[in-house]
Order: sequence, then structure tokens, then C-alpha cells
Amino acid sequence: MNYFKKILRFALPYKKYGILNIIFNVLYALFGTLSFISLIPMLQVLLKQTEPIRVKPIYQQAEGIKEYLEDSLNYFINTQVDLHGEGYVLGIMVGVVITVFFLKNVFGYLANFFITYLRNGVLQDIRNTMYRKILDLELSFYSEKRKGDTIARITSDVLEVQHSFLSILELFIREPLAIIFAIGTMLFLSAKLTLFVFLFIPVAGFVISRIGKSLKKKSNQVQTEQGYFLSLVEETLANLKIIKGFGAESRMTSQFEDSTHRFKDYSNSLTHRQNLASPVSEFLGITVIGVLLWYGGNMVLANSESLNGAQFIAYMGLAYQILTPAKSIAKASYSVKKGNAAAERILEIIETETNIKDHPEAIDKTTFDQAITITDITFAYEKEKVLKNFSVEVPKGQTIALVGQSGSGKSTIANLVTRFYDVQEGHIAIDGVDIKKMTKQSLRGLMGLVTQDAILFNDTVRGNLTLGKQDATSQEIIDALKVANAWEFVKDLPQGIDTNIGDSGNKLSGGQKQRLSIARAVLKNPPIMILDEATSALDTESERLVQQALENMMKNRTSLVIAHRLSTIQKADQIIVMQRGEIVEQGKHQELLSKKGTYHKLVEMQSLA
Ligand SMILES: Nc1ncnc2c1ncn2[C@@H]1O[C@H](COP(=O)(O)OP(=O)(O)O)[C@@H](O)[C@H]1O
Ligand SMILES: [Mg+2]
Repeated sequence: MNYFKKILRFALPYKKYGILNIIFNVLYALFGTLSFISLIPMLQVLLKQTEPIRVKPIYQQAEGIKEYLEDSLNYFINTQVDLHGEGYVLGIMVGVVITVFFLKNVFGYLANFFITYLRNGVLQDIRNTMYRKILDLELSFYSEKRKGDTIARITSDVLEVQHSFLSILELFIREPLAIIFAIGTMLFLSAKLTLFVFLFIPVAGFVISRIGKSLKKKSNQVQTEQGYFLSLVEETLANLKIIKGFGAESRMTSQFEDSTHRFKDYSNSLTHRQNLASPVSEFLGITVIGVLLWYGGNMVLANSESLNGAQFIAYMGLAYQILTPAKSIAKASYSVKKGNAAAERILEIIETETNIKDHPEAIDKTTFDQAITITDITFAYEKEKVLKNFSVEVPKGQTIALVGQSGSGKSTIANLVTRFYDVQEGHIAIDGVDIKKMTKQSLRGLMGLVTQDAILFNDTVRGNLTLGKQDATSQEIIDALKVANAWEFVKDLPQGIDTNIGDSGNKLSGGQKQRLSIARAVLKNPPIMILDEATSALDTESERLVQQALENMMKNRTSLVIAHRLSTIQKADQIIVMQRGEIVEQGKHQELLSKKGTYHKLVEMQSLA
């Protein structure tokens, strides 16, 4: 219930639909009962069981309301029969029955009509909230999570919660009311007989709750397994080339089939339990009805004053009518248990706090005038320190290069400057303002990012480029493409800049993709560029083109260049040589070469290769 209460917040904006649903459910339950009562006069006409009353009855305290109502009905029917004949009265009665049933169903439909807005609205709002959260959460949140699991949460878990939302209204309002109205009328018709029904309720409740046990756990297993095989699908699609190249189809297949096998077993066990609800409650119910038939039938046979045949038939109809809501309640209580498991998984995402938040007094910094200063920073992703007391200054207009062996912490610096992670000690400032005191949006607005693998979307060239500048004109896009050496191939694409480049840009070569990602940074036109091994995934020919593109881009800009290929950074204003998170050498290309230290060794190794 706890998780569900939290999810209920999402229904608040739709409470007017909830209220309308409740109103129409009340009417539905009321007319459900009335529909059986309306059978009584018709049956009385047919069965001709009662002595006809032809004197208008007067209400007398002593006889009680039930007697009075019965006599009035009797009087009304008989005077009408005298006036118009039996056939006519029967026709009227049938008309009343049809009308009452019709209204009951109209109200039932209206109740569902209004709740639909609530259910689908809640579905939409939960998904939107989750999506925003997914974008907001820091990268480290995902380093151990499977993507498919997140996808399962935002799709099938939300759907599960939506289903159980309907159930909860049935559980608390519609069906209990239907039962209360029916039992109330039954008490009115025959209190003695109805006592048996009260015996049935606690027994049924006990049996149903026994079946419902462990349902939440089973449901959780099903959803988790679903998240796992969705991850496998996602990974398979992303890595098809490697899977096929290494002949790992059978291994992937068996992983997937193991998972769907477990999914099947869990689902079977869950469904079997759920399926028990209906037959068990129906059987319990029919036992009670058997008792009622036997006892009530005897009452009618004994010509008891308190119950006549027509009333007994309506009474049994009502008793039978309790069965359906009783079954629904059992089913709904199981749905809610399943919904609870799903709600837990949803809330796990929604309630995770982002560690990298905007400071309450964060400023929007839109200009860059002096320098980026990194002062004495220490950082660890997990336990081991990746950077130790690292300091560097990047003055405006200069190009600073970071070199060093793989794993020495270069990309980590890029991650920290862009605030994908926060430093643990020391600080990073732009023009003297700590980046933690700037909004993330404005900080990242100052920077253009080009990474080793060009990260592109399944969209057109235009769509990919305008990611950082929504309102760019075609001319601006073409200019950016020219700076990035990309126009020469884009202009030959079938629809030019409006050509779709395929999933992750797979219709293009590596060098072409990288030039597009450079053009994207150029189009955004930020004062600071961060290039993390932008050329290292490329062959020599495309590297030359990309290198040229990068040099065009870095003109008049401040750049932090992380380079694996040392040929690409010889013109840098300053080269910083890193080893295990610390600076070992620092200077210009020639200075460092003549030192004959680490840099010299790195250059030598590369020229040999
Ligand atoms: N997301 C991460 N979680 C945990 N450790 C990481 C993560 N990213 C990098 N590391 C570790 O941090 C160290 C520095 O990594 P990185 O900055 O990427 O090196 P470089 O870019 O110089 O090759 C490496 O030892 C690496 O294993
Ligand atoms: Mg790196």
C-alpha cells in the first residue's frame, strides 16, 4: 500500500475524473440492485401468488414499511390490471425492467468513461516524470544498470500500475457498494435468510488473502526478468556486428532463452495463483447460494408470510449478483499486489536523488572571458583515486593538450570539467566562478564536446547537427559542415542535409561520422571546446580530414584536447603529460622533446609504430 500511496499523487491532477467515476459507480451499484427489485412486480403478475388488494393501503406504523410497500405495489398492479388488462401491465413491467438495466449499464459505462482519463493521464505523467529523471540522473547512476531494465520500468511497470489503478477503484468503491446495496435489499426482503450470507464473507476473505500471499514477490520476479531480457535485446541490437563476427550467436541465444524460460516459469506460477481467485470465490459463493436455496425454498414451500415466490426469485438473483463483485474484489486485490511490485520499481527511479544538482543560488554564466582553472583536484570513481592533486590553467584563446598512457585519467578531466561527475577535493572554476555555483545548463552551454566515438542519432544530418542549436538555418548548417570538412560528402547525399544517416549514423564511414559530430560542435559555437581523442578511432586518411576540421574549429577558441596520437597536438600552447592521475611533465612540444623524459618516450614509441 505504501508504494501505491506515493503513486496516488500522480492521480491528484485528475481527481475530478476520480470523483465522477465514484458518483457513477455509486449509481451503477444502486441500479444493479434496483434491476433485480424491478423483477419482483413482474414476477408477481405472472405467478399470481398474492391475494389481490383493491383498497388503497394506508401507512401504519405497526405493520412496518415492508408490508406497506408490498401492499401498495399489489394495489397498484391490480388496479392497473383491472383498468387495462394483464398483458398491458406485463408490458409496462418489462419496460421498467429494461429501463433500469439500461440505466445501470449507462452508469457503468460513464464510470469507466471518466476513469479512462485518470488512468491514461496517470500513465502519461508517470512516464514523463520518469523520462525527465532518466535525463537528469548523473552518468554514474547507469554505470552498473542495464538499459533494458530501465526500459522495462518505463514501459511495462508503468502499464502494470495503470491496470492496478482501475483495480483499486473497483476494490474500494464499485464492488463493495454493489455488495452493500445488494445485502441491504436482501436484509429488507428476508433478514433471516441473509444471516447465512454474513457467514460467507469472512471465510471468503480469509481464503482470498491466503491465495494472494507471495503474489507481490512473484510479480517482482516476472518484471525483473523482463528487464533482463530486454537488456539482452538492446545489447544484441547494439552489438550485432561483434556477436556475428565472433560467432557468439549460440551463446547469446542460450542466454536469451534461459531468461525467457525463467520468465515463462515465473509467469506460469503467477498466473496460476491469480487464476485461482475466480473459481475459488465462485465456488464458495455457490455453496452459500445452495444453503440459501434450500432454506429459502423451504420458507416459500411452507407458505411463510415473510417470503413469497416472486420475492424469493429476486432474492436469489441478488444473492447471485454478489458473486460477481466478490470475484472482482478478489481479482482486484491481486492486481493491486502486482501493481505494488511495479510501483516499487518505478519509485526506485523517481525517488533517486541526483547527486549533481544545481546549487540553489547557481548563476547562469553565459560568457567566458579569462580562464578555466583546475585547482588541486582529487577524484575517485570508486575507491581508487584516479586524479591526485591535479592543477592546471587553461587561459582564454589557448589550446591545452593532455597526453599520457591509457588509464592515466585524461577523460576523467573532461568528465569533471563538464560536471558529469563532481570533484571530491579541490575545485574547478571558470573566470573564477566555481562550476558548482553555475547552472549545469549554462556551464555546458559554454562547451562543445567531441568524443572518440561519434555519438549520432537515427535522424537527418540536420536533426543531428541542431541538437545544440534548435533554430539554426540551413545556411548556418552548411557553413558548419564546411568548417568540419563534412560538406564535401553531405552535399552528395541523396537529400543533402535532410538525409537520414541511419541508426547511430551507420550509413556513414567512421571519419564521416566524426566530421558530423565536429560540425555539431561548430554549429553550437561555444567558446570552449573539449576534444577527447577525437581522431583516435580513425584511419590516417580520415584523420587528416578530421584533424584539419578540428584545427578550423579550434581557431579563436579555447580548447582542451585529449590526444592519443601525438602528431595531432604539436601546435598546442601547452602539453600536459599525465601518469596515473598526476602531472609528470608540462611544456611546449619542443621543450618536452629536448627534456628527453616521458613525453620523448611516448613520441618515440609512436613514431616506431
Ligand atoms: N565510470 C567509471 N567507473 C569506474 N572507474 C572508471 C570509470 N571511468 C574510468 N574509470 C577508471 O579511471 C581511470 C582513468 O580513466 P580515464 O580517465 O578514462 O583514462 P584515460 O582517458 O586517460 O584513458 C582508469 O583506471 C579507469 O579504469
Ligand atoms: Mg580516455
